[in-house]
Amino acid sequence: MKLLRNSVLSVFLLLFTSLSYAEEGMWLPLFLQQLNEKEMRSMGMKITAKDIYSINQGSLKDAIVSFGGFCTGEVISQQGLVLTNHHCGFDVIQNHSSLQRNYIRDGFWAIDKSQELTNPGLYVTFIIRIEEVTKDVLNGVTKDLSPGERQAIISKNSTAAQQKIKKEKYQDSFIRPFFEGNRYFLFVTETYNDVRLVGAPPSSIGNFGKDTDNWMWPRHTGDFSLFRIYANKDNKPAPYSPENIPYVPKKSLSISLSGVKEGDFTMVFGFPGRTTQYLPASAVQQIMEVNDPTKIKIRATALSILDSFMRRNEEVKIKYAAKYANIQNAYKKWQGEVLGLTSTNALDKKLRYEEEFLKRVNQQSAWKENYGTLVQELKDKYTSYEALGRARDYFNETFPRIETFAILNTIASLEKDLNTSQKIRKESLLPVLEKLEEVFKEFDPVVDQRLFEGMMENYFKDQPEEMIAPEVLRKIKLSNYDLKNLGNELYGVSGLFLNKEKLLQELNERPESVVRSVADNELRKLQLSIQRHFVIAVNNPATQLLQDIAKLQREYMEAQTVVFPEKRFYPDANGTLRVTYGRAGGYHPRDGVQYGMHTYLDGVMEKYKPGDYEFDVPEKLRTLYNNKDYGAYGVSGKMPVCFIARNHTTGGNSGSPALDGSGNLVGLNFDRVWEGTMSDINYDPSICRNIMVDIRYVLFIIDKYAGAGHLVKEMKLVRP
Ligand code: ARG
Ligand code: GLU
Repeated sequence: MKLLRNSVLSVFLLLFTSLSYAEEGMWLPLFLQQLNEKEMRSMGMKITAKDIYSINQGSLKDAIVSFGGFCTGEVISQQGLVLTNHHCGFDVIQNHSSLQRNYIRDGFWAIDKSQELTNPGLYVTFIIRIEEVTKDVLNGVTKDLSPGERQAIISKNSTAAQQKIKKEKYQDSFIRPFFEGNRYFLFVTETYNDVRLVGAPPSSIGNFGKDTDNWMWPRHTGDFSLFRIYANKDNKPAPYSPENIPYVPKKSLSISLSGVKEGDFTMVFGFPGRTTQYLPASAVQQIMEVNDPTKIKIRATALSILDSFMRRNEEVKIKYAAKYANIQNAYKKWQGEVLGLTSTNALDKKLRYEEEFLKRVNQQSAWKENYGTLVQELKDKYTSYEALGRARDYFNETFPRIETFAILNTIASLEKDLNTSQKIRKESLLPVLEKLEEVFKEFDPVVDQRLFEGMMENYFKDQPEEMIAPEVLRKIKLSNYDLKNLGNELYGVSGLFLNKEKLLQELNERPESVVRSVADNELRKLQLSIQRHFVIAVNNPATQLLQDIAKLQREYMEAQTVVFPEKRFYPDANGTLRVTYGRAGGYHPRDGVQYGMHTYLDGVMEKYKPGDYEFDVPEKLRTLYNNKDYGAYGVSGKMPVCFIARNHTTGGNSGSPALDGSGNLVGLNFDRVWEGTMSDINYDPSICRNIMVDIRYVLFIIDKYAGAGHLVKEMKLVRP
């Protein structure tokens, strides 16, 4: 009877999954044929799994790169042209900008290859091959090992596995854990370090709508920029050299001018960063009720302080623009996440899933013995972790915002020279000076002091007393939490560290005395007291608990795959190459509201606010709009701008190509919709959508707006 019920249930579930497309999941390219190809084809894919990933012939994967390790890019010409997002190239664009040549404001277009701009430190990485190495890596690992012992064996095995594999001299490899450490995969890679900036639209196109529109649909942003990979004369990786030549890829993407419509198959190929899909309900509840709200509250303080300065002072606005956008990005995402988890009853779903898990587990004595207490144990550990996790959030969200701490830390890194030889060595000083140059570029002492006062006030007031160093707490209480006064006092005696010119000069002339004066500085003493207490009272016990949790999560992950054999599991995102696919389409976010799947240039004009920081529109674009001068890129007299689909993406997928059923490029991924940002924790096809720039808008901007048609000539266009 029991057996019958189980098999009826699994038949039902199988039926259910085959009726409704999965759409959830970030799949490993090497298992597509086994796990996904059939479904992908039933959804409208016309190519094969081998066309996407193959190690024997050129496949789509050969056109995909990890862009600088934080975004994705794709090769779109046989001369190594790479497309990624404007916000992925932003740092580079900022670095080449000055008041005279303001590429952020005006955009940048290389007229020919000689004008392309080099970018030290920027690289792209291709994935040559993926292999499962679980057996090798876990050889000798047993259940009873301590986390430290386990890690030691895994490291040793991983090194050995990497030495064993075949690869060329110019290739690298790395191994990553999957499924919470139940499986391991090895990646052979090729990294190119000569990547030049080719073009970028002005921010009023590339970041149109800025923070107001960020994470939102309907969207009207042309979030793209162009780079080119250079190689040595053998087409192999090489450091920058004027002799390098444009890289000829094994594969470059063809570009479709046909667009996609409601219900069409799409897929996104890229490097998603991090998700946590297999958490127990207890952990999800903690994210919703403790971690996200804590971080949102702390960031709100930082943002309101920065905003009050940035509105009044143009120079501060430029200095803090990138920081502000960064803080704002996750701040806004977490709010959407909590809303989405609530509106889709994620907690309830997790609880029901756990009930079913336990019901099945209790029907088999071996399962009962191995897995019977996992969910409860996880819940207990997460409960113990709650206060520590919150204190960690406080620390991690507060200290990096206060740059003076970073300045003091940077100088203090020279103390070890003093301790060993009484002298600061030139080799040690140089990187410190470089780092300080960087920090001061985006630093204003008055703003920093206000951040200190506002954020430390929260730090002291909002936390239980045991989280704060007792000697500091005593002082703060004595002052009646008067942070303003403390700020004046501490920043008052820190003048040398707040003045770039003076500090760099002193460091060059008398480094020893500067480093000594750091140790005597009162702000530094406060910082060290807080840090020391944090490590002992919070971080050490938290790390211990997180190791226990990691072990339980690993066992729970394994248990789920055993107990739910009818389910197709995909590994959490971990910065490795994945394929996700889903149908294009609008959504119904709440009662009475229905969103379409396309936006058009008309929408840009609806949002247009002359002179506005977020919604200004360049004159040339307005003219093209007024003349409906869309070249080959418009459809029925309209210019498509963005569209959405049910692809399961996350941070790191920025710049990923969106491909149609024939594997042609139709869009460029850059965001997700507000209602669906909880897809990192609990994907829901009803409201989770990824946002892409329509490739026709990208081409229109390059060709008609920027007049860089020579770039379009490099590409392979597939016309309707
Ligand atoms: N939300 C997108 C992502 O997570 C875009 C961020 C860049 N844009 C911005 N306005 N901050 O990265
Ligand atoms: N904007 C994100 C990124 O930089 C992608 C959006 C998301 O999180 O899905 O990777």
